[in-house]
Amino acid sequence: MSLRPAVITGLGSYVPDRVLSNKDLEEIVDTTDEWIVSHTGIKERRIASDEQATSDLALEAGRRALEDAGIGPDDLDMIICPTITPDHVFPATANILQDRIGASNAAGFDLLSGCTGFVYGLYVARQFIATGEMQNILVVAAEKLTSITDWTDRSTCVLFGDGAGAAVVSAGDDGVEGLAAFVLESYGEYGHLLDVPAGGSRHPVDEEVLRSRDNCLHMNGPELFKLAVRGIPEVAEKTIRKAGLTNSDIDWVVMHQANLRIIEAAARRLDIPDDRVVVNLDRYGNTSAASMAIALDEIYRDGRLQSGDTLLLVGFGAGFSLGGAIVKWQ
Ligand code: UT7
Repeated sequence: MSLRPAVITGLGSYVPDRVLSNKDLEEIVDTTDEWIVSHTGIKERRIASDEQATSDLALEAGRRALEDAGIGPDDLDMIICPTITPDHVFPATANILQDRIGASNAAGFDLLSGCTGFVYGLYVARQFIATGEMQNILVVAAEKLTSITDWTDRSTCVLFGDGAGAAVVSAGDDGVEGLAAFVLESYGEYGHLLDVPAGGSRHPVDEEVLRSRDNCLHMNGPELFKLAVRGIPEVAEKTIRKAGLTNSDIDWVVMHQANLRIIEAAARRLDIPDDRVVVNLDRYGNTSAASMAIALDEIYRDGRLQSGDTLLLVGFGAGFSLGGAIVKWQ
C-alpha cells in the first residue's frame, strides 16, 4: 500500500500571562532560586488563572495553528488532544475544543501519554493522513499542570508550568517527506515513578486522598532522571536511523523540556552541538505534553527554523514513555 505524505502546515502556541518566578516560589516553599536554576535550568514558569482550564489554553493555541495553516475549523477531520490535565475525566477535552473552535466536521479524542504526548499525537495524525482517510488533523497538546501541583512539595512544585502548543497535520504532495519517521516505546514497569495516585477507578478521591494530596502529581525525580538520560539518546538514535539519517543530518533537536541537565547530557551523547538544541524551559518550566509543541512553535516564529531543515523531536515522561520523530520542515 502506498502511503500519502503528511506534513505540518500550521503551528501555534499559547502561554498564560501570569509569570511565577523562582523568587516567588521562595515565598511558598523552602527553596531558592539558586537551587532551582542549578538543578533544573528553570527561572520562571507561566500560571493559568483560576478561570482558565486546559481547553482554554488549547483553544488559543489551536486557533493560532489554524490561522497559520490558512484553513478554517470546518476543514478539520480530527482533533487530537494530548494532555494529562483534561478539563474533566470525561468528556474529552478534544470534544470540548471541537465545539468551541467550531470544527463541525471533526471527530476528537484525548491522548494520554504524559510528556511524550505530542510525538504520539503527531504519529497518530500521520497514520490517518497516510492511509488517505483524512486530510487535516489538529494536534493540540495542552496542560494546566498547576491544577495537579502539590504546592507543599518543593521537589515537584518548582518544576511545572501551564501552556499549549498546536500543529495542523495535513496531506502533502507526492514525494514530500514531512513527518518522516517515528519510534514510540513504553515501559509500564516504571509507571509508579510519575503518577497521580488517586482520583481514578483504583482509588477514587476520599478525605484521606485529599489529606495526603494523592490527587496531585507525585514523582521520583532522581530515578526518572536516570531513565531519561539513558533512554533519550537511545530512542533518538533509533529514530534517526529509521529515517535513514545520521546524527550530523539533524538541524534542530526539540526535546521535552524537563531539565536542562537532561537535555545537555542527551545532546552530548548524541554529539549534537548545543546551538542546534532548543531550550525554553528557563521561561516556561516543564509543561508536559505541551513543551515540545511550544518549543517548536517558538523556533518557527522567530525564524530559526528554515525550509529544508531536519528536526528531531524527542519526548519522555509518564508511562514511562519515550518517543522520537523526524520532521523534514517544508
Ligand atoms: O517531565 C516528566 C519527566 N520528569 C523528569 O524527567 C524529571 C527528572 N528528574 C529531575 O529533573 C531531577 O531529579 C529533579 C530536578 C526533580 C531533582 O533534582 P536532583 O538533583 O535529582 O535532586 P534530588 O531529588 O536528588 O534532591 C537533592 C536534594 C535533597 O536534599 P538532601 O536529601 O540531599 O538534603 C532534596 O530534599 O535537594 C533537595 N531538594 C530541594 N532543595 C531546594 C529537592 N527539591 C528542592 C527544592 N529546593 N525545590
